[in-house]
Amino acid sequence: MLLVVISLIIINTFISRIILNIYIEERKSNILIRANILSNDIKSFTIHNQIVEHTAYMESIILNHSKKINARIIVVDKKGLVIGDSNKEYLNKTFKHVEIQNALEGITSSNVYNFEDYGHVLYISVPLILQNNIVGATLISISINDIYSTVGNINKSLILISTACILIIAIISFVFLDFVFKPLERFTKAIIGMSKGDLKQKIEINTNDEFKKMADAFNAIIMKLDQVDRQREEFVANVSHELRTPISSMKLLSESLLHQDEEDIEVYKEFMSDISSESDRLNNIIVELLSLVDLDKEKLHLSYKITYINFLLEKIVNRMQPLSEQKNIQLILNLKEKIQIKVDAEKIQQAIINIIDNAIKYTQEYGEVIVSLYSKGRWAVIEVQDNGIGIPEESIGYIFDRFYRVDKARTRKTGGTGLGLSIAHQIITLHQGVIDIQSKVGEGSIFYIKIPQDIEL
Ligand SMILES: Nc1ncnc2c1ncn2[C@@H]1O[C@H](COP(=O)(O)OP(=O)(O)OP(=O)(O)O)[C@@H](O)[C@H]1O
Ligand SMILES: [Mg+2]
Repeated sequence: MLLVVISLIIINTFISRIILNIYIEERKSNILIRANILSNDIKSFTIHNQIVEHTAYMESIILNHSKKINARIIVVDKKGLVIGDSNKEYLNKTFKHVEIQNALEGITSSNVYNFEDYGHVLYISVPLILQNNIVGATLISISINDIYSTVGNINKSLILISTACILIIAIISFVFLDFVFKPLERFTKAIIGMSKGDLKQKIEINTNDEFKKMADAFNAIIMKLDQVDRQREEFVANVSHELRTPISSMKLLSESLLHQDEEDIEVYKEFMSDISSESDRLNNIIVELLSLVDLDKEKLHLSYKITYINFLLEKIVNRMQPLSEQKNIQLILNLKEKIQIKVDAEKIQQAIINIIDNAIKYTQEYGEVIVSLYSKGRWAVIEVQDNGIGIPEESIGYIFDRFYRVDKARTRKTGGTGLGLSIAHQIITLHQGVIDIQSKVGEGSIFYIKIPQDIEL
């Protein structure tokens, strides 16, 4: 605003100066013409290169010219003695004025004076030259108040227009600043809140512009942060809970042993075996947690190698055969195709083992687990089908969550920690794959591990 006001003041002053100069120059040239005509007329009053003294005729000529242009005219001889004055004031007196002096030195000069009584007056003097001799001078003084009042009016209009401009600019900038600064203010507020740990905010912007896009991106980031923060809190709570459970049961078991009076070796053995299995469980949880943390760290360091999935599955099934035999479960491998893809074999093996392990664990004795391999579109699919207890529909969305178990009591008995599927899911996601599930309670489940065959690394 300040810049606009300063620029307008400069422009206005400049314009009014130019207009004033144009008017004055125009007036000057008119007066000069008149002065030259007058000089010619007065030359007829010279004898031997000298102006004769004041005569009534000369005076009438001067008066005539003076009336025509409404100006005062003074004529002096070469000594500066006034021989003609339209106002008669200085007749026969010596009149010394800068303009007269200039003219007597042969210079045509002009100047504007500002008198208290008359206002602005333009003085123009021209030398009277006869046969190359300066014989006198003519001074014409004319009021130019009309020019100043015209320029004054123009100035007023300019000021009016400028004020209107400033007002319009002020309104526009006010609206525009509001437009720009309001959203920025909201962003700043939200970011400050965020830095203080408030992750529950949202920036509302209703316009359809870049600010809206920025706000949407910001909201997405803050939502993600909030989600991560909540997951972290949940995770820590879950970890502490999961670690505390085996520890408390070990403490309970050992304390009851300490308070035993009779020395029944069988009871000792039983309790000690429980303590041992609880410590195994604790160990399992820690190993699995560490493997999850490793996966987080290793995200970018998987060592991908072209691997025959057929051989990999054969190896895994052989390794798991004893486990299934313990429960009299038939573990069947059904290789429909030979497929080789780029994977981190170690990690993929861990994911597949976790899923087959579940299939065996959550299937009753004499059940059946079928592992198949085939390709479908761009995917290589490893299918693990069981006819076990199945997963309730409402739980399917959660089974990849860390520590989630459908039946807490049962899994405690079977020794589950609820981390196996999280690990599998993370590994498959790192391979840009997905795990789909089909399951019905009481009938069984099918896990589809899908890995892209054209994986981009
Ligand atoms: N094939 C399946 N049939 C039925 N329920 C299953 C099956 N696979 C997983 N689940 C359910 O999903 C839950 C999560 O599985 P996940 O493998 O993550 O944990 P877990 O098997 O309990 O423990 P662990 O970490 O030792 O594997 C299981 O507790 C179980 O309730
Ligand atoms: Mg499991």
